[in-house]
Amino acid sequence: MAYDAAAIAAYFDALGLSEWERFDRTLGDRVSLAMHTALLERYVRPRHRILEVGAGPGRFTELLHGLGSRVVVADLSARQLELNREAARGRGFASSVEAWHQLDICDLGPFDATSFDGVVAFGGPFSYVFERRDTALAECVRVLRPGGYLLLSVMSLWGTLHRHRAAVRDMPRAAIRTIIATGDLTAETDPTSKHYCHMYRATELRTFLKKEGLTVEHLSASSALTTGVENEFITAPEQWEALLEYEAVACVEPGYLDAGTHLLAAVRRDSLAA
Ligand SMILES: C[S@@+](CC[C@H](N)C(=O)[O-])C[C@H]1O[C@@H](n2cnc3c(N)ncnc32)[C@H](O)[C@@H]1O
Repeated sequence: MAYDAAAIAAYFDALGLSEWERFDRTLGDRVSLAMHTALLERYVRPRHRILEVGAGPGRFTELLHGLGSRVVVADLSARQLELNREAARGRGFASSVEAWHQLDICDLGPFDATSFDGVVAFGGPFSYVFERRDTALAECVRVLRPGGYLLLSVMSLWGTLHRHRAAVRDMPRAAIRTIIATGDLTAETDPTSKHYCHMYRATELRTFLKKEGLTVEHLSASSALTTGVENEFITAPEQWEALLEYEAVACVEPGYLDAGTHLLAAVRRDSLAA
């Protein structure tokens, strides 16, 4: 499927605030939030200048504020940017936001080369740009300082099919065959959805990120044991703590990389390639 920026923007304009709640629906989603948060905590330092692209309503903008970074917020959707501004004012993280920009990850023209310590692209910008993903990656790398990190997450094919197994059961077999073969969720494969995206396999994501001057430092699933498991499965705080410990190990196991709804990666722009 060809990238259609207007359709993606319209989809997220209409989705509104429900993007904020997407990490609360199941236990696997809560684990995913914890895994994304752990990646931020590992790479983002106080006073780092961070470009957060595809920021949505700001769940990670708020976390970046908590880590003491300065954030430039960017999104394709005007409505998502508006929600991010409102959340920043209402929840008290506006002081860490340098600016809000409506833009496409494929064109980071407003920003100078090497002007950010980190770029965060969580929740799928690299899943929405289809055949333009190399351009998007090149743009993210361009604005990163040498030694800086791109932290990203994309939709994962097998974990998403597992999470939505009832839909897989009920959809026409030919459609699911096409989705499995291509990784693409499109108007043709699912006429009931307006959510068009590319879902990666772990091997495919690693190959995509394997570029001269880049080092993939981290690749993991967003959840392993708990994808699609209901919140009620955990009933005590100590069970949650233990679960996160097991998930952190399981999500980086080669046999589990494809098990989450998302794949997470940390990519360093090598210093020598400056
Ligand atoms: C699933 S939401 C994720 C929001 C937030 N990062 C999170 O993880 O909760 C994806 C966001 O990426 C934005 N987006 C999609 N394609 C984009 C693109 N090409 N350039 C910039 N933002 C994009 C959408 O408008 C939406 O706000």
